[in-house]
Amino acid sequence: MRLPIDMFKNLRTPFYCYDLPLLRNTLKVINDEIDGFPFIVHYALKANANPVILNEIVKAGMGADLVSGNEVLAALDAGFSASKMAYAGVGKTDWEIEAGIDNDIFCFNVESVPEMEVINEIAARKGKMAGIAIRVNPNIDAHTHRYITTGTTDNKFGVDIPVLDEVVEKAMSLSNIHLRGLHFHIGSQITTLEPFRMLCEKANELIDHYEKLGIHFEMIDVGGGLGVDYENPLENPIAPFKEFFNVFKQCLKLRDGQKVHFELGRSIVAQCGALISRVVYVKENSIKKFVILDAGMTDLIRPALYSAHHKIVNLSSQECGVETYDVVGPICESSDVFSCDEKLPITRRGDFVAILTAGAYGESMASRYNMRYLPHCHFID
Ligand code: LLP
Repeated sequence: MRLPIDMFKNLRTPFYCYDLPLLRNTLKVINDEIDGFPFIVHYALKANANPVILNEIVKAGMGADLVSGNEVLAALDAGFSASKMAYAGVGKTDWEIEAGIDNDIFCFNVESVPEMEVINEIAARKGKMAGIAIRVNPNIDAHTHRYITTGTTDNKFGVDIPVLDEVVEKAMSLSNIHLRGLHFHIGSQITTLEPFRMLCEKANELIDHYEKLGIHFEMIDVGGGLGVDYENPLENPIAPFKEFFNVFKQCLKLRDGQKVHFELGRSIVAQCGALISRVVYVKENSIKKFVILDAGMTDLIRPALYSAHHKIVNLSSQECGVETYDVVGPICESSDVFSCDEKLPITRRGDFVAILTAGAYGESMASRYNMRYLPHCHFID
């Protein structure tokens, strides 16, 4: 991630800065890794739906992973092909399902029987077939933050394996549903490969089981979740895609013609974005020093919501001395803290600060709480 402070000097803060060459590089690494394999990568728009970012991802030929009707429309606007769109989510409403069906998206990742019935009804009314994959809850603990683990039985996602046979049978019985395969997504910011190996084992068992019953899936969607390095982002700007795809190349036992779909969000866009902010005040009380930024949890909510730590860099300070600060935002909430006990060079009012690895789930989760402006954005090309 390049951080050209000279470019920042005349810009109003806070803003997201995106390094487009780094994004292109990341996309190329992914495309090189999947070349020659029956792998299709869908970009998860929820991570960042900035149109300039989407344009780069479309140009790289990726599909889209969507979780709302508006994401379906945004992906179409951005130029993603409907034939490479997968739409997940436990609570798709009728208009959202219609948006998918009207535009002939590749696949709904269906999370329950009631949802499947509604998709079938709407497709029948329109005289169309709806492609679906059944989202399986594989009960695999991805050892990530409890708010972003999705593949264990105590959360709301997917269909449990003990009832999967019935759900598959139901899908096959509905006249306007075309069952394409199974979908999994076990969580996000997964930093070891073991959960993905376990996922492959589970998928192999299920593929085997259904082949024996004479049911052949055309695709398996293994979701997203590959983690990135939040602590050393400048040293590791590209996620370990080689190792990640190798797991699936080595462990998944694909049948004839079967394709593997991936839904990567964070690992594609996290490192190409930084939140750039200015220090408004440096304040001291009897026990602490605070660096108060003009960026807050409304611009980047991850630290407040998940206790996530993003690396913070003071771009202006020429000081050799280091101080320990709590780096906080201006919002009227005690959770509006980017980092406690952060070691920074001596920091002063007006300094530029970059909060790194903010390209994923940063701008897309921003809010207007406290009637603040949404963060704007600039691109380095
Ligand atoms: N597919 C499905 C069905 C998902 O639910 C998600 C993310 C993805 C793919 C993309 O996962 P990724 O490759 O980005 O890990 N706001 C949280 C992350 C929430 C992830 C939700 N689902 C955060 O800031 O950490």
